[in-house]
Amino acid sequence: MCGIIAYTGKRQAKELLLDGLRALEYRGYDSAGLYIPESGMVKAVGPVASLVAAVPHEFLGTSGIAHTRWATHGAPKEANAHPHTDDLKKVVIVHNGIIENYKELKEMLAHKGHTFVSETDSEIVANLIAEKRKTAKSLVDAVTESLKELRGTYGLAIMAADEPGTIIAARMGSPLVLGIGESENFIASDPTPIMRHTKNVIYLNDGEIAIVTGTSYDIFTLAGASVARVPEAIDWTVEAAEKGGYEHYMEKEMMEIPEVIENTMLGRVILEEGRAKLGGLIDVAEKLKSAKRIIIVGCGTAYYAGLVGEYLIESLARVPVEVELASEFRYRNPVIEEGTIVLAVSQSGETIDTLEAMREGKRRGALTLGIVNVVGSTIARESDAGVYNHAGPEIGVASTKAFVSQLVVLALFALHLGREREMSEEDGHAFVKALTELPNHVRTIQSTRGLIEKIAPTYATTRDFLYIGRKQNYPTALEGALKLKEISYVHAEGYSAGEMKHGPLAMIDKDFPTVAIAPQDSVYEKMVSNIEEIKARSGRVFAILTEGDVYGAERADDAFFIPKTHEYLSPILAVIPLQFFAYYISLAKGLPIDKPRNLAKSVTVE
Ligand code: M6R
Repeated sequence: MCGIIAYTGKRQAKELLLDGLRALEYRGYDSAGLYIPESGMVKAVGPVASLVAAVPHEFLGTSGIAHTRWATHGAPKEANAHPHTDDLKKVVIVHNGIIENYKELKEMLAHKGHTFVSETDSEIVANLIAEKRKTAKSLVDAVTESLKELRGTYGLAIMAADEPGTIIAARMGSPLVLGIGESENFIASDPTPIMRHTKNVIYLNDGEIAIVTGTSYDIFTLAGASVARVPEAIDWTVEAAEKGGYEHYMEKEMMEIPEVIENTMLGRVILEEGRAKLGGLIDVAEKLKSAKRIIIVGCGTAYYAGLVGEYLIESLARVPVEVELASEFRYRNPVIEEGTIVLAVSQSGETIDTLEAMREGKRRGALTLGIVNVVGSTIARESDAGVYNHAGPEIGVASTKAFVSQLVVLALFALHLGREREMSEEDGHAFVKALTELPNHVRTIQSTRGLIEKIAPTYATTRDFLYIGRKQNYPTALEGALKLKEISYVHAEGYSAGEMKHGPLAMIDKDFPTVAIAPQDSVYEKMVSNIEEIKARSGRVFAILTEGDVYGAERADDAFFIPKTHEYLSPILAVIPLQFFAYYISLAKGLPIDKPRNLAKSVTVE
């Protein structure tokens, strides 16, 4: 995700800011930029090294702000990179987060004569502050007034061209930390870039603003109340900080899931109406209303997300859905009739099979949509319309948070289609309520992951696993098995539990354990019968059950509980323990979790 570093003090800012950007590289980014009031602004697409090459040798000044951008609104290009300024180049900002109401604000500012050079939501913040500054008593008053008009999330560092040395920081939803040094102070999105200069930090809370100079910092709330805060000492190593204190990116990314769900839903749920609002689909709204059939294409984890999407869309919106492996679809001579949508699901937006499957759909006249995490990627650019995941960069090869966000987008998509068709307002409300409860449910699961950490090593020498589930949790079984395969190199097969008697039951013995996904839903009793059949053949069972399910737990050897949720949202919760299970088995085996052998994060060749 985007990174912020800002400095004010006695030293030359240029090298400090560039070093800070290098330290933020681990967060993932596609462009970078910096601003020093006395010298100006430089931006570059690509690695920080490109920015370093672009900054003139003489770029003097003892304060400045800098940013690594991971695109959310607008493709990765220089005009969209941060810092952003108002049209008169008086106010300069760097921003992390998403401004939900940026379109309305942009319109309002355009009416007042402001012009814009980027496609970002962030640029409007600089213009809004500049607009308020025309009548406000001070820069900080203009900032405070502006923040009150923003909806969404932000971590902001703000400077004015005529006030070098002063930086204003503001936080709502996107973390910001102040680094308090000797006659110098820092602001950053996490401690990594500042801890080599000072270990004394103050974490800003949501709704707080700080005025920072080289020798002072004042913190207050949006309402104007002063906040007294004493710096705390951090004891992270630089390496630990890059992974947010976690040992592996995969663990960090799993722990980000509650926030990822919130970001994926941000501004996309209309609570009062029990509806979803997907801005990226507005231009194709009419075609969506009359869609007769949806074909979802994807590979690996994204394909499994599509399978869950099939249950969601058919059940909520009553539109027929087929899900195809993209690598098969593209060579299959598919039948595409009037009213067919081809929906490509891809974290990277660059997977060649998914891209070609989508292109095949387009050639045959389908409306093409994308559910993509990487903004500006090829699938995002070439699809007719789409929805971004807003999951932030996923660095671990094993997809975890991106899978969950794909499920959340598919749930929102199904809700949107459903409410445009036959889904009642009452059902819409119930579904929206269940969606908004998910982040806390995931937090609950994360807080009990110690149980999985304990049992996983007891399975670490197992050679083969079966994963079973039914209905919407059949794809969860497939995904759980894939996670184990890819990071622990253990053979694991996902099966529909109903298929057990048609073959796989023959393999069950005491050395062939089964992971059974059996939450209390409409197929719970059938799942319990499957568990009993496995137990009767001496098979060991690790069951994923609903909280309080003593009956199920008594039938399994090991059990992990997940909170109750809407039946069709249960894969979002059930997959979390399976991700942890794969993680801890891989950990016990001492394998390179983030970079499993033979695999790449983005598969851009066939
Ligand atoms: O970037 P994509 O979502 O298109 O990638 C698709 C698959 O390659 C990907 O999900 C792969 O299966 C993951 N490594 C699974 O963890």
